[in-house]
Amino acid sequence: MKGIVLAGGLGSRLYPVARGVSKQLLPVYDKPLIYYPISTLMLTGIREMLIITTAEHADAYKALLGDGSQWGVEFQYRIQDQPRGLAEAFILGEQFINGGTSALALGDNIYYGAGLSGQLLEASALQKGARVFAYQVQDPCRFGIVELSPEGNPISIEEKPTAPRSNNAITGLCFYDADVVEIAKAVKPSTRGGVEITCVNQVYLDRGDLFVTKLPRGSTWLDAGTFDSLLEASHFVQALEKRQGLKIACLEEIAWRKGFIDSATLEALAMGYNNDYKAYLLALLDKFTQ
Ligand code: TTP
Repeated sequence: MKGIVLAGGLGSRLYPVARGVSKQLLPVYDKPLIYYPISTLMLTGIREMLIITTAEHADAYKALLGDGSQWGVEFQYRIQDQPRGLAEAFILGEQFINGGTSALALGDNIYYGAGLSGQLLEASALQKGARVFAYQVQDPCRFGIVELSPEGNPISIEEKPTAPRSNNAITGLCFYDADVVEIAKAVKPSTRGGVEITCVNQVYLDRGDLFVTKLPRGSTWLDAGTFDSLLEASHFVQALEKRQGLKIACLEEIAWRKGFIDSATLEALAMGYNNDYKAYLLALLDKFTQ
């Protein structure tokens, strides 16, 4: 399975902050926002990722992330010249996906919680259909919503409904079979959201091929697209990291734990820092060799 991280968009709700700097490069406490969705895909076991950015900010992403080899993964880059909607990711990514399965992660979405890695691994086994991750929210009118049967099967989906039938939001992490490219190409762009991902998911629902993983109440899903949510995300990560002494979305750590890089590489990466990251990464190795 391959992964796509969507890091284009305008980020207009964060203007003027996101006028000169791409939203997904802004910090969430101690790392750039885009590290979080990349970590989600790495935890899924995905090693080949396509990073979709705007032309204006592509070089900054390349400078930050490189080709991924430092973390034992592979990044390719593609430019989306206009924010024409989330599902355009599959049209831009057609060659990259190359007829296989894929996962789409929105560049400003953060996931955290017990059991998440297991749910991600399960999702990565997908061969047919689509699987979306849903999360209970208080303000469903702002999201794409999925109505579920008592058994957890999807009944209907709606984009930003005025009278929502459910408070389960479809989050920024979805898994698809190879059909997604042709389905996305056939979607008629709406004036509101361009090539909408909800339209793609609707096709899978109509086929009886849409599956939903509901994130449990003890887990956290944040999007960092507004001033408040960006700051709240920073505080959330800061509080957990300080309390537990464990980092969230530390890509070096995940790469090492997943076996994408060896201990010598982790040590070399640690030596490239002169702050808390250095001690943190070296301590991982210490514990490992004890
Ligand atoms: P949004 O938060 O919906 O849009 P945005 O980032 O452009 O922000 P704003 O609404 O404030 O103008 O996008 C969700 C994620 O998807 C975000 O990480 C940007 C990305 N995105 C793209 O890469 N291409 C697109 O066409 C769109 C709509 C979003």
